[in-house]
Amino acid sequence: MPRKILVTSALPYANGSIHLGHLVEYIQTDIWVRFQKMQGHSVHYVCADDTHGTPIMLRAEKEGITPEQLIDRVHAEHSADFADFLVEFDNYYSTNSEENRVLASGIYQALQAAGKIASKTIEQYFDPVKNMFLPDRFIKGECPKCHAKDQYGDSCEVCGATYNPTELINPFSAVSGAVPVRKETEHFFFKLSECGEFLQNWTRSGSLQNEAANKVGEWFESGLSDWDISRDAPYFGFEIPDAPGKYFYVWLDAPIGYMASFKNLCGKAGLDFDEYWKQDSTTELYHFIGKDILYFHALFWPATLEYSGYRKPTQVFAHGFLTVNGEKMSKSRGTFINARSYLEHVKNPEYLRYYYAAKINGTMEDIDLNLEDFVARVNSDLVGKYVNIASRTAGFISKNFAGKLGEASASDIEKNSAAKAETIRNSYEARDFGRALREIMALADVANQYIADKKPWSLAKEEGKEEELHIVCSTALRLFRDLTLYLKPVLPELAKQVEAFLNIEALIWDDVNVNLASGHTINAYQHLLTRVEPKQIEAMVEANKESLQPIPQAHSEQRHAQHQQNEAKAEIVTEEPAYISIDDFAKVDLRIAKIVNAEHVEGAEKLLKLTLDIGEEKPRQVFAGIKSAYDPATLVGRLTVMVANLAPRKMKFGLSEGMVLAASDERGGPFILAPDAGAQPGMRVK
Ligand code: 2FM
Ligand code: ZN
Repeated sequence: MPRKILVTSALPYANGSIHLGHLVEYIQTDIWVRFQKMQGHSVHYVCADDTHGTPIMLRAEKEGITPEQLIDRVHAEHSADFADFLVEFDNYYSTNSEENRVLASGIYQALQAAGKIASKTIEQYFDPVKNMFLPDRFIKGECPKCHAKDQYGDSCEVCGATYNPTELINPFSAVSGAVPVRKETEHFFFKLSECGEFLQNWTRSGSLQNEAANKVGEWFESGLSDWDISRDAPYFGFEIPDAPGKYFYVWLDAPIGYMASFKNLCGKAGLDFDEYWKQDSTTELYHFIGKDILYFHALFWPATLEYSGYRKPTQVFAHGFLTVNGEKMSKSRGTFINARSYLEHVKNPEYLRYYYAAKINGTMEDIDLNLEDFVARVNSDLVGKYVNIASRTAGFISKNFAGKLGEASASDIEKNSAAKAETIRNSYEARDFGRALREIMALADVANQYIADKKPWSLAKEEGKEEELHIVCSTALRLFRDLTLYLKPVLPELAKQVEAFLNIEALIWDDVNVNLASGHTINAYQHLLTRVEPKQIEAMVEANKESLQPIPQAHSEQRHAQHQQNEAKAEIVTEEPAYISIDDFAKVDLRIAKIVNAEHVEGAEKLLKLTLDIGEEKPRQVFAGIKSAYDPATLVGRLTVMVANLAPRKMKFGLSEGMVLAASDERGGPFILAPDAGAQPGMRVK
């Protein structure tokens, strides 16, 4: 029985370009969808741009265009990027659509009728110059904990503290620079606090990966708070029914955008919307998301659906972030790479699809794009192993046998390939693409070994070996056909070229059971794949290097909105500047410290435990990696320099509440720094 499956990827914000980090998700979803389609299931893959919210409104204003103009332009860019990476949506829509307005309003009214909406008057910061309430990320000021300047309204990037914007010292609006005033306003809340029982059951019903279910368990323990789903004008979004001047918060209508995109598809393709979304639907619904938006998809979204009378997702598949060369994507290192830039330099999207697939295993672990390994892996697996099978054998079939395949070999080699089909299928189904590709490449190794053993190039020169040559090359090409089938979800374009070369219909999974017939005529082999050159990668990285950073812009409100619950508020991106400003330097609180005690730490190879007086009531405890150079007794009483506002770190041996400064390189060290005579404990170092 073919399954009826609806699949989504998270909706990208309509104010930025698609980059290689985004593509981990879209490529992953696309592979899974193509795999399911090859199985003969009825699959619809929908997505859309996430178009609402303050950042998009302000961005359009800055560019001197309307939000609609901005989101139209970005929609075209995103669509082209996805198409060029062979991410094939059945519909790519927009959350700023009539379908979404109707659905969002209807869901809100249903939640209201179910008694799940409350209104509360809250106090919020208001920008008196811009005449607007300010989202947390658009308020800046001094951190109430460590006094670092220029911190966002929700958390401090220096000491890691989270707080309310009202706790910031000397707050200012990141939009106008004005001093914000506190102002009361009525907001609407979704009573998530009343959904605990339903959510406990749903999240434990197999709808989440284990690691995700564990994470959600922690959130239950800290308690569910009601969710603020309204924002005041001016706001780019949908006005709330019967509440003039109040708008749905972008995260309310974003996931409803999944439904709206599908609704739009139903109109075009004659599908039945209700069949997929009604309470007791027997169709399947899967959401692919990044782990940073788990809270929204594992709690808000199912609760919203439950209490507005819709079906819940069959499963939510969360994945990790992308690192490049083992680190966060970075503009100064040139590893923050836009989709378009990759295409300009590397050209072939299937290399990246292959590499990502090799790393994707269906868990929430981060995946690393190691650029050297990328070149090596693509060249060795795709060019060296896979394509090689055809390029070493097809010529003989064309030249010596008029393009006609011969008999199957009597050896077990083809049976061996078919026997693996089930493992490969299961690995794809479980989104463990890495495992699928390992199995496939192991088969490619077997095929190459077979060719190396049989040496068709020698057979071609020997008298009376015609038949054997025919069998060997035909066997190799049958295996090549199988590998193409297995790789097709990952490499759809290449598979298409191979289908043309082998002169066969578009491959589906069931073809594993049908061998290419003896006497079947193939076309002449044409070059299939070029090696990727390290030079291309170097040029790409060079082109993406930004040495001077623009002044940091207010980050998207949305990613950070749930910081209390959502520990992974991590931006995938760091924008670390090549230079730091004097303000940045001023954030580092350097102090003269007196070493009042120093001792060995049992079990620590490199550390000494220092007790440091910096003029505060309580001395600081710091673990310093200076054991190799200092006898603790000689340190007591000396003055040194410490970083006093480093976030405390829990170490194996205890809490370390700062860092002492010491010099070292290959010439020696560590040498701790010491001030000139006269310096006193607690003095600031500037
Ligand atoms: O985090 C994000 O990039 C959001 N735009 C994802 C939205 S997914 C869905 F819920 F709409
Ligand atoms: Zn701080």
